[in-house]
Amino acid sequence: MPEPRKKITLPYLFEKAARGEPITWLTCYDYPTAYLQEQAGIEMILVGDSLGMTMLGYDSTLPVTMDDMIRHAQAVRRGAPTAFVVGDMPYMTYQPSVETAVRNAGRFMAEAGCDAIKLEGGAAMADRIKAIVDAGIPAIGHLGLTPQSVSALGGFRVQGKSAAMAKKIMDDAKALEQAGAFMILLEMVPDRLCKLITERAETCLIMSLGSGPHAHGQLLIYHDMFGLYPKFKPKMAKVYGNAGEVILNGLKAYHDEVINRQFPQPENWFGMKDEEYAELEKLLSIAPQTTTPEETAESKKKKGKKK
Ligand code: KIV
Repeated sequence: MPEPRKKITLPYLFEKAARGEPITWLTCYDYPTAYLQEQAGIEMILVGDSLGMTMLGYDSTLPVTMDDMIRHAQAVRRGAPTAFVVGDMPYMTYQPSVETAVRNAGRFMAEAGCDAIKLEGGAAMADRIKAIVDAGIPAIGHLGLTPQSVSALGGFRVQGKSAAMAKKIMDDAKALEQAGAFMILLEMVPDRLCKLITERAETCLIMSLGSGPHAHGQLLIYHDMFGLYPKFKPKMAKVYGNAGEVILNGLKAYHDEVINRQFPQPENWFGMKDEEYAELEKLLSIAPQTTTPEETAESKKKKGKKK
């Protein structure tokens, strides 16, 4: 039996980055997938509020609640005890105030056993990051395409293509780093911008989602990797297998086998010993006849007439 993996910790992540080795990070929302990701050696898991779309079928991440996130984060933690699990703060659980942010970040740690939290936004959210870090909770910033602000950003599109916007993202990254974020996720920004931010990061790690190879590691959305989200596939997602198609074919085969009486077969059911069955028949034939309430009422009537 191979040795179970040691717990992935913050020092582990920084040491790996210092060796120039990329960190692996995937989204995950449930126990069986977390188990598989742990077996595959994935180091970080993001319980993303994207679960609103991938698991709950909403059109956006906005309706997701803290309770939704906690339930899924707990399941992930049970499936991946050694991964570095990050709880993603859903819409309006940190924007209203610093105190709201700290309280909700604390729920991820206390109720779900997360290792860190992530929230979206730049300089405007730096005070939330600082307060969360001051409360002893490792915090990750998220810049570029931030799905909770997709309406303000004009849709799901690459961010920071103009020099001015790229500079703004660089300034936001510095503000988050100075506030104490140990990691910043760059989603859908140009590769050269990601490279610049990574090169200039002093105390924090930079991760890329669709932002090129020049970061300390990579994040992908699990459902996009395996054809499990039916509505669309973002350009940045690499499909590693079409699990959606495999499952659909299996479901169709089950449907056909049941209606054609090919399922179940003897290996799919349980029998009982002949002597036990014979005993059961004997028990049934000598058991006293039970009477229904109607029969009882009827027999009472008959008895009455006889008198
Ligand atoms: O919720 C999520 O999965 C995310 C990713 C899009 C980065 O925040």
